[in-house]
Amino acid sequence: MTIDDIIRWVPTKNAEMMTTTGQSKRDVYEFFHKPEFADKIGVEFGCYQCHSTIVLAQCFKHVYALDNWADAIAVGRKFLDSHGIDNVTIFHQELYNGFPVADYRV
Ligand SMILES: C[S@@+](CC[C@H](N)C(=O)[O-])C[C@H]1O[C@@H](n2cnc3c(N)ncnc32)[C@H](O)[C@@H]1O
Repeated sequence: MTIDDIIRWVPTKNAEMMTTTGQSKRDVYEFFHKPEFADKIGVEFGCYQCHSTIVLAQCFKHVYALDNWADAIAVGRKFLDSHGIDNVTIFHQELYNGFPVADYRV
């Protein structure tokens, strides 16, 4: 999946105010889509409905996506599943209460 493919169908700021712009998603992809990150774990603090998580999932071997908004991450899980993204673990987590993973070599 290329970033052009993703930007064609993923919600961006024009359609969904809570997510980032298409340019921001492209910038994230261009920064992280490199061999040095391909075997690493990425973390997204505040993933909302996983519209950017899907970009990170192309760049890292696995992504931990955290958010304290249960309804948003339920939508996000369905969004990832419906696009066959299987390398993301979503945590319903209040960020001020710590990090939910013991092994955080990210
Ligand atoms: C602007 S949205 C994030 C958009 C998302 N990163 C994207 O690119 O589509 C901010 C998210 O951060 C979450 N958030 C804000 N404060 C938080 C906190 N203290 N703990 C966990 N999540 C938090 C909100 O629930 C919301 O879903």
